[in-house]
Amino acid sequence: MPATNAPTTTPDGIPDGIPDCAAEGLPFPEGFLWGASTAAHQIEGNNVNSDWWQLEHSGDGRIAEPSLDAADSYHRWPEDMDLLAQLGFTDYRFSIEWARIEPAPGHFSRAELAHYRRMVDGALERGLRPMVTLHHFTLPRWFADRGGWTAEGAIDLWERYVRATAPVIGTDVRHVCTINEPNMIAVADAIRKLGAAAGETPTAGTPLPDKATTDALIQAHHRATAVIRSFSASGDIRVGWSIANQVYQPLPGAEAATAAYSHPREDVFIEAARDDDWIGVQSYTRTRIDPDGHPVPAPAEAERTLTGWEFYPQALGHALRHTARIVGAVPLIVTENGIATSDDTRRIAYTTGALQEVTAALEDGLDVHGYLHWSALDNYEWGSYKPTFGLIEINPDTFERTPRPSAVWLGGLARAGVLPRA
Ligand code: BGC
Repeated sequence: MPATNAPTTTPDGIPDGIPDCAAEGLPFPEGFLWGASTAAHQIEGNNVNSDWWQLEHSGDGRIAEPSLDAADSYHRWPEDMDLLAQLGFTDYRFSIEWARIEPAPGHFSRAELAHYRRMVDGALERGLRPMVTLHHFTLPRWFADRGGWTAEGAIDLWERYVRATAPVIGTDVRHVCTINEPNMIAVADAIRKLGAAAGETPTAGTPLPDKATTDALIQAHHRATAVIRSFSASGDIRVGWSIANQVYQPLPGAEAATAAYSHPREDVFIEAARDDDWIGVQSYTRTRIDPDGHPVPAPAEAERTLTGWEFYPQALGHALRHTARIVGAVPLIVTENGIATSDDTRRIAYTTGALQEVTAALEDGLDVHGYLHWSALDNYEWGSYKPTFGLIEINPDTFERTPRPSAVWLGGLARAGVLPRA
């Protein structure tokens, strides 16, 4: 890490004034993944062939600001990986962009495949194990224009793309995530359909995920899993997908209503992972449900983050236990957890609370294989740059990267090889 970027630290790498909770920690289980996550569209910049770029420039007022250059990680990924490795992380989750790899139907870009393979090699050379996501929200425009996931032939087209990623995955990428948050994709499709029907986009509540999209995504995941497994003759490639855990908590008397609310929004996607090699748990906050099956706003006095979500790090423990209950013996990996804040001390406080939940889950016998923080970098939060989730701050004018104290602290836990206890 360049000296100019380093926050003031004590000799053991812990920023001044931040408690060294590594001292009393639980040693990582063997092979534990310890890293940070990103997604192509949110950091690369100029993803011009994607449906999101199209939406950002549609001029219909739905998107506050466009992604434009993002963090320019398409060019600056070596710097990002240098920083993560120097900070002490051992794993980096990033996504490869279908819209770049297949800019027109059936036309696969050898240059873009080589670009992403260089990223895999670059990670391995730095001692970072890459976790590669094949699809993180953005679609090629042509695929979206022909009707997206539920159009005729969509799953075959997806499978063709997955097969084309073989040179990127090779035989040395251990963890592949097929689809990020399929439940949120199905919710977005429902919002689109409702919006089209009503002439406007609904703003309140979480609509039911679109059922046809849900079914299509589950099929797509199972197809991709079989294809990716076939890439490695030795069978040591591990495939899974990552589910958004909204941590639905029942108010008194709302147990049945909460279960009914959760099933189509979350559980059905977790059930579809029962034959996977791992499942990704992504958690940020909670949603309380009343006996009528309606979400209840967080109390007025609750601390809120820059996304407006309740500051509730305990959500991760609930998400892990809920997932384990449904998925059975499949290993759990926290593939996203973090906070949008302008106060890095709150990021450390939040992450400490969340990691204590991971420790408690492990001590209770849950098979947690890793923790990847969202996010490595400040990035494009699907419509706005205002919610800053990054361990590493990005200067939007110069693209200069500056690790925050939280990055040094979290990397320090990696070096110590321990998780904090409560
Ligand atoms: C997504 C990320 C997003 C994060 C914070 C997850 O839903 O996978 O792309 O930035 O949450 O909202």
